[in-house]
Amino acid sequence: MHAGSQSTRLEDFYRYLWPAEPAADPLEALLDVADAAGRGDLLMRAAADCGLARGMRVLDVGCGWAKCPCRLAAELDCEVDALDILEHNLAQAREYVEEKGLVGRVTLHLASMEKLPFEAAAFDFIWCTDMLSHVAALETALAECFRVLKPGGRMLLYCAQATDLLEPREARRVAEPMGAIPETLSRRRQEGAAQAAGFQIERREVTADAASPYYDPVHPDEAAGVLRLARLLRDRPRLVERFGESRVGLVEAHWLWNVYILIRKLDYCFYFLRKPV
Ligand SMILES: C[S@@+](CC[C@H](N)C(=O)[O-])C[C@H]1O[C@@H](n2cnc3c(N)ncnc32)[C@H](O)[C@@H]1O
Repeated sequence: MHAGSQSTRLEDFYRYLWPAEPAADPLEALLDVADAAGRGDLLMRAAADCGLARGMRVLDVGCGWAKCPCRLAAELDCEVDALDILEHNLAQAREYVEEKGLVGRVTLHLASMEKLPFEAAAFDFIWCTDMLSHVAALETALAECFRVLKPGGRMLLYCAQATDLLEPREARRVAEPMGAIPETLSRRRQEGAAQAAGFQIERREVTADAASPYYDPVHPDEAAGVLRLARLLRDRPRLVERFGESRVGLVEAHWLWNVYILIRKLDYCFYFLRKPV
């Protein structure tokens, strides 16, 4: 909402724009500040607050290259089962687990969140970070997590979520080339599926909210993505001719996702989910 008449706004704009060097403007100077805590540390801190403790039996759903489960095993002496749907990613994960000397303490599985190869109530804690957007059958997937968690156990969910600023067409454009599901980005859908599975939502935190204890500051490196996207959009036809539509569309979607996070069309959220006793 803009206050004042159009002519007042016009004058305000030029008063702001022309005399000031950005750095001399107190508001701009505040916006120049960027510190960069590692995202891995942020996840570890949120997990501890969510109830993760030393020695627990943990399931990592969608582990990627297994960096997180290795930290859980090495730093907290957890016994970790980690799964991923892609053999390609698991091959990297195997190498990483070996490199860290954690074979036997981190066990890798080729499996999907929608069909977990574990008995009921097997785990004290579930770790699920930055993968939910790939899952179409949300209800099934979260019901599976609920099943394999012990009563009283908690699940840390860290997932991308559309804000009111994201239009449906933008959701499709950014999600589909990356194998993500536009509908899964909906807050209502995610929370509805968690509750339908039986979870209590104990806490929700948005990491782009500077007032949140889990604030994730803007990292200067993220500017590189904005520039890449700008160049790609300026030279798209020639890039498509050379690399093909699907390759260009994928790179475009990746950097667009980054931009949407920066301008808050997409947010990352932490959920602390609890299975009631
Ligand atoms: C962005 S990576 C995140 C990796 C890791 N969790 C992290 O936080 O660094 C998403 C991972 O989820 C995996 N994935 C996608 N859909 C999945 C599914 N239905 N079940 C299990 N893993 C899945 C992908 O293969 C990929 O390795």
